Amino acid sequence: MNTRPVVIITGASRGIGAAVARWLGNTGAAVTLVARTESGLNPVAADVAELGGKPLVIRADVADPDACRRIAESTVDRFGRLDALVNNAGIVEPLETVARTKPAQWRYNFEVNLLGPVFMVMATISELRRHRGRIVNVSSGASQHVIQAASAYCAAKAALNHFTRVLAAEEPNITAVAARPGVVDTRMQELLREKGPQKMPPQQAAYYRQLKTQGRLEPAAVPARSIAWLALHAPHQWSGLFMNYDDPQISTPAMQLFGESIEGNLYG
Ligand SMILES: NC(=O)c1ccc[n+]([C@@H]2O[C@H](COP(=O)([O-])OP(=O)(O)OC[C@H]3O[C@@H](n4cnc5c(N)ncnc54)[C@H](OP(=O)(O)O)[C@@H]3O)[C@@H](O)[C@H]2O)c1
Repeated sequence: MNTRPVVIITGASRGIGAAVARWLGNTGAAVTLVARTESGLNPVAADVAELGGKPLVIRADVADPDACRRIAESTVDRFGRLDALVNNAGIVEPLETVARTKPAQWRYNFEVNLLGPVFMVMATISELRRHRGRIVNVSSGASQHVIQAASAYCAAKAALNHFTRVLAAEEPNITAVAARPGVVDTRMQELLREKGPQKMPPQQAAYYRQLKTQGRLEPAAVPARSIAWLALHAPHQWSGLFMNYDDPQISTPAMQLFGESIEGNLYG
């Protein structure tokens, strides 16, 4: 029987999710890596294996509840148990005002950002209960702040925070937290810089461009270290909370556990 921690990470092909996988791989954890694009997952799996972890690659869209069940079943078949779920997969699109957004675009955003985590929880809940496991729902500052032309994203992340609170109340044997990763140098921020000027009020579009030009974006490895720590060690009394990646209660023990950088600073 496998005794390494076993963690499912959705959205693990790049950005924050890939960095969470590398931190966990570096501790020898078994990680199931999920995204819609397998070509993006394979290099991350190779890194995890090189760092001493055990990867399992599953191409899936978390908007599909059957796919979420397959992710859970394949993980337990392969590794024998499940200790944590990191619901990280997310999309910011449609970047469009409410008045101009098509219903199907708005709905797919909710399917990925809200229903994906819900379906993943449903699929994994019995295993997580059995092992007093943890769920980290990767949320956003957008759950509390207005981003014009991103109404679906803001609303889905707000709902994700509240879903986390209800889940925590219902499930005394699971620790579920929502985590805010800050502003992070990933493809998602690239999209905001690219599309913002056509879609957002000028001041808001300029804000996203300035985050990059002024060097204010975090490298993905920084919030990922906090998220990886939460997946392994979030204390039960935090269940239901929405927490910041740079809260010292998280970032300090995360730094102690994982260190400043992954070996050789390969992954930034
Ligand atoms: N970057 C920021 O500043 C920031 C700020 C606040 C919150 N966040 C949150 O952090 C999380 C990670 O974002 P990121 O910045 O790392 O973005 P990213 O670089 O765009 O990565 C998103 C990941 O999610 C996967 N994904 C997207 N839709 C999916 C689906 N339907 N099913 C399965 N996988 C899916 C993507 O792979 P495929 O496209 O191949 O599926 C990719 O691996 C998101 O939840 C995001 O909302 C980011």
